[in-house]
Amino acid sequence: MRFSTVFLSFLSVALAARPFLNEPDTGIEEVFGSLPAGTLPELSLIAGLPDFEWAAKRVLHPFSYMHFRNGASGEYSYRNNLEIFHRYRFRPRVMQDVTNVASTLPITLLGHNFSAPIFISPCARAGLAHPESELGLVRGAAAENILYMPSLFANLSIEDISAAKGEGQVLFQQINKASIDNDTQALFQRIESSGAKAIVFTVDAVSPRNRQRSGRFGFDQGDYSSYDLATWDTYKQLQTMTSLPIVLKGIMSVEDARAAVAAGVPAIILSNHGGRQLDGAPSPLEVALEIHEKSPEVFTQIEVYADGGVRYGTDVLRLLALGVRAVGLGRPFMYANVYGTEGVTYAIQMLKREIAVDAGNLGLPDLKAINASYVNWTPDLRL
Ligand SMILES: Cc1cc2nc3c(=O)[nH]c(=O)nc-3n(C[C@H](O)[C@H](O)[C@H](O)COP(=O)(O)O)c2cc1C
Ligand SMILES: *[C@@H]1O[C@H](CO)[C@@H](O)[C@H](O)[C@H]1NC(C)=O
Ligand SMILES: *[C@@H]1O[C@H](CO)[C@@H](O)[C@H](O)[C@H]1NC(C)=O
Ligand SMILES: *[C@@H]1O[C@H](CO)[C@@H](O)[C@H](O)[C@H]1NC(C)=O
Ligand SMILES: *[C@@H]1O[C@H](CO)[C@@H](O)[C@H](O)[C@H]1NC(C)=O
Repeated sequence: MRFSTVFLSFLSVALAARPFLNEPDTGIEEVFGSLPAGTLPELSLIAGLPDFEWAAKRVLHPFSYMHFRNGASGEYSYRNNLEIFHRYRFRPRVMQDVTNVASTLPITLLGHNFSAPIFISPCARAGLAHPESELGLVRGAAAENILYMPSLFANLSIEDISAAKGEGQVLFQQINKASIDNDTQALFQRIESSGAKAIVFTVDAVSPRNRQRSGRFGFDQGDYSSYDLATWDTYKQLQTMTSLPIVLKGIMSVEDARAAVAAGVPAIILSNHGGRQLDGAPSPLEVALEIHEKSPEVFTQIEVYADGGVRYGTDVLRLLALGVRAVGLGRPFMYANVYGTEGVTYAIQMLKREIAVDAGNLGLPDLKAINASYVNWTPDLRL
């Protein structure tokens, strides 16, 4: 009794030991902190994805920064998405020939070739970061040959984004609401005409949301009585309305991953919407771990992607280790877009380099050889 009380109080002190750091202390302030207010650091000195958020916060209108940074309720899921990765330590191997690992990043997603297992997740209103809005994202993705999923709530139209594509560039178009009606049929036709190769149907945001950060700006309160209808039956009917594959975004449990396989879904995205819908929803890493433990076959039955809280090459590696095929980032690319196309391109190059370097240090001759044995899945609860 006495022991457990002492132990518990020790544990609570240990668990409270580290304050949350949106941008961990890696010297950003020391180097960039003396820049005049409102100026961006020179792009070539940006050393990691968190630097982009630090820079964006300084130059954007507070409302615009809020739009990107926003999360649901107390933002516990937002913070957990970022922090959870660091609870799982790697199990690096040495004396491996890793000299060619950088050439092993390319992958296919639904049969389309890309240069790396990363993609730009759909985010509404890129125009709040840069006057060219989504052009920076579509052009950056083209320059580096990665997948971009434009949001239906983009500043630019589906057609305008499509018109900015590079030669042979593949986009997957995101949608929110989809009912079995003529409006949806018309939307699907627009998407098909635009040349998109898949539809990404977001299913984790059919209900309104509680967002305190935006509520204080009098924004995003939305219509609290509007709940969209989307069931597995809806999915099957939607799939008959288009020749494009419909990917589901926002899977948060092994049950729904299995249900997606049963419904013939070709690919799913494990996501809690960047912590912006249900506070307390698990991070994609936790969902991937649940699938790995209870139904690992899902990773080979369909393509499984994931997004949320990814800021480092090492975050990508932990997700790939569980069988995730490609990893998306939302906010980092939106913040990089304060520099426009150049910033997005630079961010993609930096993340690719991190993935290759980290994979080498993990002892992987080939990125595709990564498996769950490269991570210790017993969480370190002190972090
Ligand atoms: C500003 C912003 C807008 C977003 N808009 C959408 C959207 O329109 N549709 C959607 O499916 N997800 C949307 N998301 C969620 C992202 O697609 C993605 O799941 C999330 O950003 C991943 O987390 P990360 O920002 O930590 O990388 C949005 C996220 C942000 C930050
Ligand atoms: C994709 O890459 C494979 C292997 O490199 C190649 O054979 C194929 O032609 C490529 N497909 C396209 C559409 O470029
Ligand atoms: C993008 O849309 C938002 C919200 O509708 C608007 O405030 C902003 O000015 C737009 N930006 C651009 C560049 O069109
Ligand atoms: C859809 O359009 C058809 C004709 O194009 C029309 O007959 C039908 O009533 C419409 N359905 C709905 C639900 O609006
Ligand atoms: C995981 O990778 C290690 C190292 O290459 C290998 O020894 C092991 O057999 C792999 N495990 C599975 C389940 O493939």
